[in-house]
Amino acid sequence: MTNKTDRIIIFDTTLRDGEQCPGATLNIDEKLVIAKQLARLGVDVIEAGFAFASPGDFEAVKKIAQVVGIENGPVVCSLARAIKADIEAAAEALKPAVNARIHTFISTSDIHLEYQLRKSRAEVLAIAEEMVAYAKSFMTDIEFSPMDAARTDPEFLYQVLERAIAAGATTVNIPDTVGYTTPSEFGAMIKGIIENVPNIDQAIVSVHGHNDLGLAVANFLEAVKNGARQLECTINGIGERAGNASLEELVMALHVRRQYFNPYLGRPEDSQESLTNIDTRQIYKTSRLVSNLTGMLVQPNKAIVGANAFAHESGIHQDGVLKNKLTYEIMDAQLIGLTDNQIVLGKHSGRNAFRTRLKELGFELSDTELNKAFVRFKEVADKKKEISDWDLEAIVNDEIQQA
Ligand code: KIV
Ligand code: ZN
Repeated sequence: MTNKTDRIIIFDTTLRDGEQCPGATLNIDEKLVIAKQLARLGVDVIEAGFAFASPGDFEAVKKIAQVVGIENGPVVCSLARAIKADIEAAAEALKPAVNARIHTFISTSDIHLEYQLRKSRAEVLAIAEEMVAYAKSFMTDIEFSPMDAARTDPEFLYQVLERAIAAGATTVNIPDTVGYTTPSEFGAMIKGIIENVPNIDQAIVSVHGHNDLGLAVANFLEAVKNGARQLECTINGIGERAGNASLEELVMALHVRRQYFNPYLGRPEDSQESLTNIDTRQIYKTSRLVSNLTGMLVQPNKAIVGANAFAHESGIHQDGVLKNKLTYEIMDAQLIGLTDNQIVLGKHSGRNAFRTRLKELGFELSDTELNKAFVRFKEVADKKKEISDWDLEAIVNDEIQQA
């Protein structure tokens, strides 16, 4: 394996880290429904849960391994602390999967070593090596994460990664556990790892990040430019505290700006080939499903999947979009599986958008009728946030009756 792969591996952790947010708990059936949709979406790896954490999580990982972990399906993964019992539970739950992965982790930052693990660096180094080797005795595909890597001393981080790879890790994941790093720092950290870990060519470099400062996606994109080839993310960016890097934002940034990213992946700049295996037309549907089942609402102005992401309210924007979408849209709504952009009529809307919507509703007005109706529409729009089709019909009928 090499970090020189020219494709970005999408590792979805909605069912593990995503579920680790207050109120988002899912039952086994709900997890299975989401896992099936993630497979349709085309994610490469599904982190189905933390098998040792509870009997319910064990069963969910096992069920997903059985039903979704089929030939040509995604890799099914379970999280496991660097502890034998965790690794055994993960291996057992993953048995039915054709392609399975154990993801084992241990903290490496001094603050975690001192206050949480109460272990020395030498002890952590030995445990990481021993537990990766133990996981390797169950399967070939092993991921190792040095937790809180972004706050770990770089020299110690290089040592831990080298030992984990030598013990059999095929993916080394670099978590920004507390969402502390900035894009240029994170990019430099990935570059440092690739330059200083002697056996790094034997593993894929992955990144994992939280959104405490709202920087997770930006950090990941910088990591890609510096050699990361697996991105760990969740649908709608749900997860611990402020959440994880959002899958839809990452995938669409890599898609819309692929010509910018192509050279970093060793591709010709003008290549139109997708950088991920994701079927982007499944994005909106997956977002709705996860929101409905977890009860985690999507904020209206959320990039890509928010209710307003493709909605235009201002008159100038509406007029532009009706003439040519590219004036105010950088991607087609159909790309993420929506039928079209939305023209939302409100007080900022212009005559062109008003006329277009009336036509769609079957009203063909003369210029005089349209002018009168438009004046009335602006009066109503001043009092209401949004004008519905019912309001429009009422406005037009009033104007026509008075004529
Ligand atoms: O945020 C984190 O560090 C994690 C690890 C278990 C990868 O979720
Ligand atoms: Zn996490």
